[in-house]
Amino acid sequence: MCGIIGYTGPLQARGIVLLGLSQLEYRGYDSAGLALFTEDNKIYLQKKVGQVSELEKNCDKSIKSHCGIGHTRWATHGGVTDANAHPHMVGSVTLLHNGIIENYHTIQKQYGFEGLTTSETDTEVAAQLINYYYQEYQDPYLAIRKSIDIIEGSFAFCIMFNDIPGKIFAVRNVSPMVASATEQGSFIASDVTALIPYTRSYFVVPEYHILTLTDTAIEMEDMKGNRVEPELMEVSWDVEAAQKNGYPHFMLKEIYEQPEVFQKTVLPRLLGGIPDFSAEGIPDSILEECKQIQIVACGTAMYAGMVGRAIIEQKLRIPVTVSVASEFRYDTPLIDEHTLVIVISQSGETIDTLAALRLAKTCGAKVLSIVNVKGSTIARESDYVLYTHAGPEIAVASTKAYMVQLAVLYLITGRMMYVRKKASDEEIREFTSNLLSSTDTIQHMLDTISQKVRTQAEKIAFSTDAFFIGRGLDYAFSLEGALKMKEISYIHAEAYAAGELKHGTIALIEENVPVVALATQDHVFNKTISNIREVKARGAYVILITKEGVSVSDDVCDIHFEVPVKDDCFSVFPCAVVLQMLAYYTAYAKGYDMDKPRNLAKSVTVE
Ligand code: G6P
Repeated sequence: MCGIIGYTGPLQARGIVLLGLSQLEYRGYDSAGLALFTEDNKIYLQKKVGQVSELEKNCDKSIKSHCGIGHTRWATHGGVTDANAHPHMVGSVTLLHNGIIENYHTIQKQYGFEGLTTSETDTEVAAQLINYYYQEYQDPYLAIRKSIDIIEGSFAFCIMFNDIPGKIFAVRNVSPMVASATEQGSFIASDVTALIPYTRSYFVVPEYHILTLTDTAIEMEDMKGNRVEPELMEVSWDVEAAQKNGYPHFMLKEIYEQPEVFQKTVLPRLLGGIPDFSAEGIPDSILEECKQIQIVACGTAMYAGMVGRAIIEQKLRIPVTVSVASEFRYDTPLIDEHTLVIVISQSGETIDTLAALRLAKTCGAKVLSIVNVKGSTIARESDYVLYTHAGPEIAVASTKAYMVQLAVLYLITGRMMYVRKKASDEEIREFTSNLLSSTDTIQHMLDTISQKVRTQAEKIAFSTDAFFIGRGLDYAFSLEGALKMKEISYIHAEAYAAGELKHGTIALIEENVPVVALATQDHVFNKTISNIREVKARGAYVILITKEGVSVSDDVCDIHFEVPVKDDCFSVFPCAVVLQMLAYYTAYAKGYDMDKPRNLAKSVTVE
C-alpha cells in the first residue's frame, strides 16, 4: 500500500523517481508526488491526483536534480486530493510515508499542531513532529529518533531536510523498505521492483534503524546511534520478469507464466518422487507431530488456504481451520504448541497476516509460511519458510501466486502423507506425479480456451451479478473465481456451495444471470448437476466446467468447458485458468484496467 522511492547520486533524479513510481504503482495509484533538490539546493515539490503519468505531465522537465523522493498513494486518511498526496513539506522537513500513524490525533493536540495542517493526512503530523524536533536540536538523527519514539503505528518514511541537500533519511516500522548503494548512486524503495533496473543487490531495511543515503553510500544506525552493517541479498529474477514483454497487461502475462512457475516451485522439491523439504531446513517433526493445522491469510492467499484445507483433511484426516488474518489476530484462537500454523502471503508484508503470525507464535504454535517475496517480513519472522517461485507478481489481482501457493500446499500434503505413513510410497509418487503433470493441464488450458472464454466473457460482461457454485473442492476454488471476477470486472460475484443456494440465494437467479458451475468431483457430480438444473430452470446462463469426457445433456448448461484431469484432487489447477481468464476477459470487454482495479492495492500494509 503506497509505493515509495528515493534516489541520490550522479544520475538525474527526476527520471529515476518517476520510473520507480511507475514500477511501484501497483501498490497504490490514486495520486502521486515527488520532491527534488534542485541545483540551487531548493526543493521542487509536485503532487497530483491520478496515476504517475499525470504527475509526469505536470512535472517541470527543465529541473535538474540529483536527489529526490517520490510516492504513489493508496488513500487511508484523507480523500484523494492534490493536498493529501505526498510528499508533505513542513518547515525544514519534506517527508513521505507508507503506513498509518495511529496516534496522529493525540500528537496534533499535544504539540498544538491543530489548525496548522494543509492536508487531512496522518502523515503531515509526522512531518510537523520531525520538524518540531529538528528546530529544537538542529540534528536530523535526534529529530527522527525523538519523533519515532512518539509515533505509534506502521511507517516507512523517506525524509529530506531542506538545509541538508543531497541526503535522504529513512526509517521504518512494519511497512516494507529495501535499499541499495550502487556505483550509480543510492536507492531506497518499497520493494525491489523499483531497484532492479540499477542493481540486483539490495538489503531489507531493518525496523527502527535510521538510514542516511548519500550519493556514494548508505549508512545505517540503530536507535542508540550504533553503526549497523546491512545484510545484502540478491534479486533472483531478471528485469524482464517485471515487464509486460508484449502482453497488453501484467495480469495476462502472469496467467501465461503459470506453467513455468508451477514447475519451478514443484520440481526442485521432489526427491525420488516424494516431496522433500530438507534442503529448506523444514523438519519432518512439525508435519508429523501436529494435532491440528491452522491456516491464516488474506484475500487470494486465504482462498488458496481453503483448497489446502480440503486436500489436507481429505488425505490426512486431521482437522484444518482456515481463518481470515484480520479476524484471527483479534480472536483468542484455539491453538497451542500442538498446532502447525501455515501462513500464506504473496508479498510477505500483509499487515494482518503478519500480526496473525506474531499472535500464533505467542500461543506456542510453530509457524510455517508460504511466501513469494524473499526476505519479506513474514518470511523472516516465521519459524520455517517455503518460498513460492512465482517471480514478481505485478497485477493487483493475484493469479500465478495463487497457483504456486496451491502447489506448495499440495507438496506439504504429500510430505505429510509420507511422514505420517498415510499412503504407500507408490501412492505418494502417483500423487506428486499428478501434481507435476498439472503443469501440462495448465498449459493445455492456456493453449486451447482463450477464444472460447473471451466469447463467454463478452456475453456476461454487462451482467450485474454472477454466481460461482460447486461442492467440496469445487466450492473451495469457486471462492477464488468469484473474487477474481468482482475485483477486476466490478460485477457483484458470489461463490456458493451448490447445495446451499436453495436456502436463500436462489431468489436472485433470474433470466440470464450468469452461473459458473464447477462439477469436477465425481463423488458429488450428480448432486451438483441437480443444483445446476435448479438454476437453469430459473433462467440462469450456465457456464459449466467438468472433467474431460464427462457426458452432460445439452439442457444443463449454455456452454461447457472440460478440464483434462485423471484425479479429481487436481482439477483446481486447470479450473483456475478458466476462472482467471473469464475474469480477465470480462474486465477487458468492459475496457477496465485490470492491472490497477479501483480502490485496490497489491500489498496491503494497513489494517
Ligand atoms: C491484496 C491483494 C490480493 C492478495 C491479498 C493478500 O488484497 O490485492 O491479491 O491476495 O492482498 O496479499 P498477500 O501478499 O498477503 O498474499
